Amino acid sequence: MIEVTGLIKRYGAFTAVKELSFTVRPGEVLGLVGPNGAGKTTTLRCLAGIIPATAGTIHIAGQDLTADPVAAKRSLAFFPDEPRLFDYLTVRQHLAFVARIYGVAHHEDIAQPLLEELEIADKADQLPGELSRGMKQKLAIACGLLHAPSVMFFDEPLTGLDPLGIRRMKDSILKRARAGATVVLSSHLLHLLEEVCSHVLILKKGEKIADGTLADVSARFANGEANVSLEEIFIRATGGTES
Ligand SMILES: Nc1ncnc2c1ncn2[C@@H]1O[C@H](COP(=O)(O)OP(=O)(O)O)[C@@H](O)[C@H]1O
Ligand SMILES: [Mg+2]
Repeated sequence: MIEVTGLIKRYGAFTAVKELSFTVRPGEVLGLVGPNGAGKTTTLRCLAGIIPATAGTIHIAGQDLTADPVAAKRSLAFFPDEPRLFDYLTVRQHLAFVARIYGVAHHEDIAQPLLEELEIADKADQLPGELSRGMKQKLAIACGLLHAPSVMFFDEPLTGLDPLGIRRMKDSILKRARAGATVVLSSHLLHLLEEVCSHVLILKKGEKIADGTLADVSARFANGEANVSLEEIFIRATGGTES
């Protein structure tokens, strides 16, 4: 469960996120969409406790992120658009390292199936420099999933993956949501979001334009038309791609 109330994020005098409130329940996958610069990454970083919010409250799995960041972070995983890895640790060593940080016991039993699910098991002894961009992303995802987070934030997780990788990533996300995880996902690949997300939140210049189930948000901008795509809804809601 994610509960956000009155989230504001300022960078100096510039307000990147304005009074944002929303809730995501276990089993839901929320698609965070909006033009470049709308504040998606900023919002996700605040929710993951990577940067401090200027104002507002954030609860992750019932824990207040500001009051008890360690407890909140134990339940969450953040997957950035650019994976950050350690140049001199192999794939297997990354997982061992993350397991120690999060106190994951018998991590090999969890790591091996994860590497297989993400199809990088054959790269277990390679260094990041020997991996393709998509494989690096998969390694970062394996590291994030190791402590079995109940709340997951994905910032553009599908960029850089091949079509099969995208399909697998979608399946991984859906599998975890069905098992009760709470997921927020930002992406510009709107046709893919339509297949993965139960809910959508449209941001523009740091402000929430709409949120709700895909059907609710579509109905709001469909003007009575049937089968309007999320892409068309996005364009109607945000008035083009300029921010
Ligand atoms: N560290 C930062 N310092 C100052 N401004 C920033 C910083 N990070 C992002 N911004 C600004 O905040 C706005 C939202 O950025 P971002 O959250 O990255 O948007 P999105 O992910 O939706 O493209 C943009 O105008 C961006 O230039
Ligand atoms: Mg971004």
